[in-house]
Amino acid sequence: MLAYLDHHATTPCDPAVVTAMAPWWSEAFANPASRLYRPALQAAAAVEQARARLGAALGVAPDAVCFTSGATEANNLALKGVVEAAAERGLSRRRIVSLVSEHRAVRDPLAHLHRHGAPLTLLPVQADGLLDLNLLEQALTPDVLLLSVMAANNEIGVLQPLAAIGRLCRERGVLFHCDAAQAVGQIPLTTEELGEELGIDLLSLSGHKLYGPKGVGALLVRPGVPLAAQQHGGGQEGGLRAGTLPVPLIVGLGVAVELALADREARALRLAPLRDHLQQALESLGGVTLNGCATARLPHSLNVSVAGLDGTRLHQRLRRQIAVSSGSACSQGSPSHVLAALGRSRAEAAASIRFGLGRGTTEADITTAITAVSEAVNQLRSGPTGW
Ligand SMILES: Cc1ncc(COP(=O)(O)O)c(C=O)c1O
Repeated sequence: MLAYLDHHATTPCDPAVVTAMAPWWSEAFANPASRLYRPALQAAAAVEQARARLGAALGVAPDAVCFTSGATEANNLALKGVVEAAAERGLSRRRIVSLVSEHRAVRDPLAHLHRHGAPLTLLPVQADGLLDLNLLEQALTPDVLLLSVMAANNEIGVLQPLAAIGRLCRERGVLFHCDAAQAVGQIPLTTEELGEELGIDLLSLSGHKLYGPKGVGALLVRPGVPLAAQQHGGGQEGGLRAGTLPVPLIVGLGVAVELALADREARALRLAPLRDHLQQALESLGGVTLNGCATARLPHSLNVSVAGLDGTRLHQRLRRQIAVSSGSACSQGSPSHVLAALGRSRAEAAASIRFGLGRGTTEADITTAITAVSEAVNQLRSGPTGW
C-alpha cells in the first residue's frame, strides 16, 4: 500500500470532522443569511459557534475571524485589501516587503499588486531558509506599508522568527501579514502558548492543512486594521467577504482547529523522532543533504536532495511506494523557487524529496519510505547514468 507522506500538500479530513459536518448538508441546510425562520437561525448559530471556537483556539476575538475559501483567498484579501485601503486613505506608505521563499499564494498577489503600481521588495533568505533580521530591519524603510512573511515554509518546513519580526513591524508602524497555512495546528502560535505576542495583524489559515475540509479557511484580522473587501455582494462577513457561507465547511473548520490544537503537542512529540529516524537513514546513503534549517523546522517536515541523480527518474521509482513531492504541489512542475532561494541548483532541486508526516503516519510508513528511497538511489547509482 502507498505510504502517504505528503501532509504539506493536504491532510485527510478527520472522521470526527466529517461527522460534525454531516447534518449541515441535507438536513439543516438553510442559508444562515435568511434569518426569518428557525433553521436559518440555527445555521447562523452554527457559523457563530465555529467562529467562536476558532477564535478561542487561536487566542483572538470571534469578530477577528473572516471565513474564506482557503489560505489563497485569505492571502489575496489581506494583501490586496491592505493596499487598497491605504490607497483610499491617501497614505504615502505604499511599499510591500516579503520573502523570495513565500508560497505562490502570496507571491502571485504581490506580483499583481506590483504590476498595478505598489513598490515591492522581495528579500532573499539565508542558506538555511531563515530570514536575516538585520536585512529585514534595513528593508523596513518609512515608506513600507506591509510585510508578509510566512510562519512555516510549505517545502522545507522552516519556521521564521515571528515574534522578532512582529516587534520590528510594530516599532515601525508596519502591518504584518503572516501566511500560517502550514503552521496552525502544527506549532504553538498563541500568546498564551508562547508567553509572548507575535505581533501579527493579519493571519491566513486553511482547513485542509489541519485535518479539516478543503475549500474553507480564514483570515484573522486584528481589530482596527484597515482592510478593503475584495469580494462584493450580499454583505456577509461584515461586508469583508460576500457570498453564501458554506455552513458544513465552516462547522468542520471549527472542529478541525480544536482537534488539531488538542493533539498538536503529542503529535509533534511522536512525529519528530520518526522524522529524525527517516532523515538519519537517508543521510547514511551518502550524498543526501537536508534542505533548510535542521532546528527551526516543523516537527513533521523533511526535505532532502540526493546528489547526482536525475530527479524525474528518482520520483518515477518512488511513486509506486510512497506519496511524496518534489518542491511544491502548487509549483506545477517548475523548479522550486524555494530551493533555488537556498542556493540549490536546478538538478539538486529536481532531485529533492519532500516528506510530510502526519497524524496517521506509522513506523511502518517510515520503513517503507527508507526502503523505497534506498532501493531507488542504489538502482539509479548503479545504472549507466548514475554515480
Ligand atoms: C504556505 C501556504 N499558503 C497557502 C496555501 C494555499 O492554501 P489553500 O489551498 O487553502 O488555498 C498553501 C497550500 O499549499 C500553503 O502551503
